[in-house]
Amino acid sequence: MKTNIKQILGFSEFDREITVKGWVRTRRGSSNVSFVALNDGSTIKNLQIVIENDNFDVNIIKAITTGACIAVEGTLVKSQGSGQTCEVLAKKIEILGESDADKYPIQPKAHTMEYLRENAHLRPRTNTFSAVFRVRHALAFAIHKYFNDNGFFYWHSPIITASDAEGAGQMFHVSTLNPTNPPKNEDGAINYKEDFFGAETSLTVSGQLEGELGAMALGLIYTFGPTFRAENSNTARHLAEFWMIEPEMAFYDIQDNMDLVENFLKYVIHYALENCPDDLEFLDKRFAEEEKKKKQEERSEMGLLEKLNFIVSNQFERLTYTEAIEILLNSSHHKKKKFEFEVKWGIDLQSEHERYLVEKHFKKPVILTNYPKAIKAFYMKQNEGEEVGKETVRAMDVLFPGIGEIVGGSQREENYDKLMSRINEVGIDPENLWWYLDTRKFGTCPHSGFGLGFERLMLFVTGMGNIRDVIPFPRTPQNAKF
Ligand code: 4AD
Ligand code: MG
Repeated sequence: MKTNIKQILGFSEFDREITVKGWVRTRRGSSNVSFVALNDGSTIKNLQIVIENDNFDVNIIKAITTGACIAVEGTLVKSQGSGQTCEVLAKKIEILGESDADKYPIQPKAHTMEYLRENAHLRPRTNTFSAVFRVRHALAFAIHKYFNDNGFFYWHSPIITASDAEGAGQMFHVSTLNPTNPPKNEDGAINYKEDFFGAETSLTVSGQLEGELGAMALGLIYTFGPTFRAENSNTARHLAEFWMIEPEMAFYDIQDNMDLVENFLKYVIHYALENCPDDLEFLDKRFAEEEKKKKQEERSEMGLLEKLNFIVSNQFERLTYTEAIEILLNSSHHKKKKFEFEVKWGIDLQSEHERYLVEKHFKKPVILTNYPKAIKAFYMKQNEGEEVGKETVRAMDVLFPGIGEIVGGSQREENYDKLMSRINEVGIDPENLWWYLDTRKFGTCPHSGFGLGFERLMLFVTGMGNIRDVIPFPRTPQNAKF
């Protein structure tokens, strides 16, 4: 029976026979004895295998090269060397998969992130990426656990949809029509009635609208699935395919929504701290090395672990968009004209503004509320009694240091007439949303929700610098490899 290395490293009884299987990270030694660092992915730590070369066929010894996959039977003993507590004295070795060490793309040395992206099929075998993907698993699990433990139901919104929830028109079309010769209407437009679904369909940008339908029946729901955006933003924080977590809660107002998001984010980050100590310790060191390469003024004031612990134990700052604009306008940064984009009431905050607020001004996570109606989606609840031209909606964005926006959410407009007038204002065809509007006709209620970008959370927790490096196979403009 195979034991995984994580279990083996936890054993306190030695001189026992074990079988272990994994990939060779390095082999060193002399003509008499070889020391192999073996990794099986269960932990960032390697297991040392000690091999008396003379006890084995020379072809077996030769085949133990970086990248090869081997099975070892042997005795687990207390280590005589430093650097590990135990090691395996090999009795039987089987080469499961040879590796041409010279051609193996993952050499035992530092590679650039760009190079590793080109080799995304093998990069999970590096320390950095295996750590990142173990943390990814832990966070995904923690998210499900949090919601399950708090009475939420996992709700599956569709991936293929005929509606643009965010109204930003950044959708990938889904069609089985012949792209070179699609059926046309008399006016020359494509006749989607002849398409697979009998309508124009796309990949979803958000599961929210269908999520709301779930909340209006089950009370508390959350979605956790892939979402797709054809926005051509080639930044370190945007993917064309990313995973989003969208809880939706009947009877929650914007205050309840803020309380939930803060509690939830603290819980999942705390879970990672508790359950991924080795990986986070490794990533903490890596983060420190990366920060050293940056200019002094761009460096994070805290280490990775320090940052994570800080988030878990400090209250988020809550303020309105209008207050945030005041802070930005009064900042010396603004007075010295250091913002690239203009600051004035009504703008969609740019990443530089969000980061100024969290990193320089408050030095902690911020929840901004009550954004101008004009820059937010149609479904957000409108505030009342406001000056014409200064109308706001009960939006809430959570901003994190080093990331900017990590969560977007709001209280929803539950009033049929108000929602309808907003739909007409922004030019959405209400015919397409008849089912959504029905919830406002039949037993409507105050409700709220938010969307957390899973990879943005991953960026924060792992301290990685680019969103392409926290998902196994990133999809970005001009790139859908693997
Ligand atoms: O702010 P957004 O667009 O909000 C929604 O989609 C709402 N329907 C959510 C809701 O209220 N249920 O997106 C939510 C989050 C952002 O805050 C960001 O973290 C992430 O999704 N996000 C992206 N992550 C990676 N790549 C992209 N292109 C992203 N676009 C948004
Ligand atoms: Mg947003």
